[in-house]
Amino acid sequence: MRQNSTLIATQRAPAYSNTALAALVEENRVHRDVYLDPALFELEMERIWGKAWIYVGHESQVKNPGDYLSTTIGREPVLMVRDNRGEVNVIYNRCGHKGAKVVAKPCGSATMFRCPYHGWTFHLDGKLNATPHKCGYDDTDFDPEDPQFSMQKVARVESYRGFVFASLSAQGEDLKTFMGATLETIDNMVDRSPQSEVEVVGTCLPYFHDCNWKMFFENLNDAQHPMVCHASVGVATRRVVKQLPQGAAVPKEVEIIYPFGSSYEFFDELGVSVMARGHSFMGGRQSIHSAYAEIPGYMDSMIAAHGRERTEQVLGSNRHNTAIYPSFTIKDAVQIIRVVRPVAVDKTLIQTWHFRLKGAPEEMLHRTITYSRLINSPASMVGPDDWDCYARMQESLHSDSAEWVDMRRYIGREQSEGGITRASGTSDLSMRNQYRAWSDYMTQGQQ
Ligand SMILES: [Fe+2]
Repeated sequence: MRQNSTLIATQRAPAYSNTALAALVEENRVHRDVYLDPALFELEMERIWGKAWIYVGHESQVKNPGDYLSTTIGREPVLMVRDNRGEVNVIYNRCGHKGAKVVAKPCGSATMFRCPYHGWTFHLDGKLNATPHKCGYDDTDFDPEDPQFSMQKVARVESYRGFVFASLSAQGEDLKTFMGATLETIDNMVDRSPQSEVEVVGTCLPYFHDCNWKMFFENLNDAQHPMVCHASVGVATRRVVKQLPQGAAVPKEVEIIYPFGSSYEFFDELGVSVMARGHSFMGGRQSIHSAYAEIPGYMDSMIAAHGRERTEQVLGSNRHNTAIYPSFTIKDAVQIIRVVRPVAVDKTLIQTWHFRLKGAPEEMLHRTITYSRLINSPASMVGPDDWDCYARMQESLHSDSAEWVDMRRYIGREQSEGGITRASGTSDLSMRNQYRAWSDYMTQGQQ
């Protein structure tokens, strides 16, 4: 027995000292092991995904008491659930009895949770309600009020304008401090609604990637790849435009896909901005989303609600991807978020969720869904281009011919002001910034 305990303890001990972890990230390159080593993935689950604020879901997905959403934080199964007092809780999806996963459905509504194994029931805030045939506990020290028998609450939960994040760690900064300047992207998306409110529509579009989660995250503000990786969509859409009858409107599908074939100069001009904790965004006034045609009635509904000046201010901001490290990325101008759910060192689930701008013409939502089908879906013209490259990296990084992955493009040509550092759009700045955060999390600030 003692031997077994020792064995378990040995297996869980970190295989990396802080010095060894720090050595994996240099100023201009990272060691391939950050993508390949299962031991590092385990440490990431503890030191990054177990500490940072991780996106859980949107309050509109749990509108009424009893509504729940089942998801994961890192690899921890959790439920986001609205209780009878109207509070949004995030609880571990684990029975306080034998540890079975209590809820199997991705979402639904319940008055109480009941474990399918032995029938223990739990209130909507996770507290134990009842155990069947309880006389069996009469002569034991079983105390139903003891919190150990509940479905446990996640350490910290905070919401910003309906977006619910949780941290598995009781210690740390609050959500707003964590998000910093990325808060403005969430504000911008919500303020694009005439009612200053958004809601999730339908379920997510899931897409499993055969790669490490960090490859997806690096790609978000990697503007060196579209003109190469997505070259075919540029060619195809240019051909469609050429064949249009004179004066014909450009189809909205072309409008959405075409910018993915933009030039190095276009993306350089957009610029990339990074901040503490690994967050980043591209663009500002301009992005690949800023040249969309106006949808009839939308501008009028915004001006009626917010006035012209405020409307122009809101719609004049067009960030590309805003990446909130490590779990969340948002396109404010398209009303889409993508959420990272790491599964294994070489497997990652990406969930795309779509939002309705309350009070806006329904055509706005149609554009959001169309965008997702054309760009994010596993059957789209753009997403699989990226996926193929991630899978190639995941495969060939195993080659012993080289150890390092390069990230030095435009290094030393950044400019910092007010906590934000900016560079040309095709810089590797956002990647270098992510690995600075990775290193801080992984070494717990003690390099
Ligand atoms: Fe891409």
